[in-house]
Amino acid sequence: MTVLPQDILRATFGERLHRNVRLAPYTSARIGGPADFLIDVRNADELSEVVIKLREINNPFIILGGGSNVLVSDKGVRGIVVLNRAKDVRFNAGDLPFVWCESGAILSSVAHRSAAQGLGGLEWAANVPGTIGGAVYGNAGAFGSDVAHNLIKADILDETGRNWWPLEKLAFGYRTSSLKTGNKQAVVLAAEFNLINLTKELAQLNIEQFSAKRKATQPPGASMGSMFKNPEGDHAGRLIDAAGLKGKRISSAEISLVHGNFFINTGETKAADVKALIELVQKTVKEDSGIDLELEIELIGEW
Ligand code: EPU
Repeated sequence: MTVLPQDILRATFGERLHRNVRLAPYTSARIGGPADFLIDVRNADELSEVVIKLREINNPFIILGGGSNVLVSDKGVRGIVVLNRAKDVRFNAGDLPFVWCESGAILSSVAHRSAAQGLGGLEWAANVPGTIGGAVYGNAGAFGSDVAHNLIKADILDETGRNWWPLEKLAFGYRTSSLKTGNKQAVVLAAEFNLINLTKELAQLNIEQFSAKRKATQPPGASMGSMFKNPEGDHAGRLIDAAGLKGKRISSAEISLVHGNFFINTGETKAADVKALIELVQKTVKEDSGIDLELEIELIGEW
């Protein structure tokens, strides 16, 4: 696929199309070069419409949600970045409460808003960065829970149109789904999550407990969250720590002293610095413990 000329894109997307947009501000690590073009969408219908048009004109694109699990290259993204700002959230009360969220809604915000209504189930996610779309795509999780535990179904734009995918079709695994491993064409438009009736006080207390644990074990600052997946039976953070790598820096990219699996952008970090640190960690941990660490984050853009 090649990127179409600007006049064709302009004719298709009009004023929605922005040229040469720096992506760093749209990522949690605050790293990354420009997108040739950026289109922001404000609701799930717009997201669907834009993706269908992009497929019709056969133009390459990626969808960016919270930018929390991606490392955008310094050269940036050729083609179009669709910035997902579809944030509508609707709660359904009753004996079996649930919440419907558009895919650009912020997961942690949905968790907090649920708790404020005395609805539990998502308290584990109260400090997990990223959007609903990214969370479904990567089966985000923390403290023994994950999206797969709460999701009812996801509204997906696939090759056949807009369909509700049940859990079985999403084939969730540890930090993965069929959206990540297989069907790269499918786009999350919205999702529904089971909730449980609690009191506001109890839901809030649960959030406070998870937040305290998070604060005690994970660093603040600009990062991509966990850099590597935990290998079977061990923890990437522990392995990086044991290899003596905590505090190691390349330029202003630093392996956190609080948690070895977090790389912090302490200044004007380049994606290339983070990539070099990733490779150093993979090599050193392999030598130290024989284990191959696999990235949890995704590298996007032109490398
Ligand atoms: N550890 C060390 N040194 C370190 C860091 C951790 O020895 O520098 C040890 C800890 O002492 C503990 C073990 O490693 O015994 C596990 O650490 P922790 O409890 O912090 O959990 P984790 O496995 O590193 C996972 C998720 C986090 C999630 C937490 C809490 C992954 C890759 N990470 O971290 O998810 O918040 O559990 O449930 O699965 C994320 O995916 O982005 C993420 C932050």
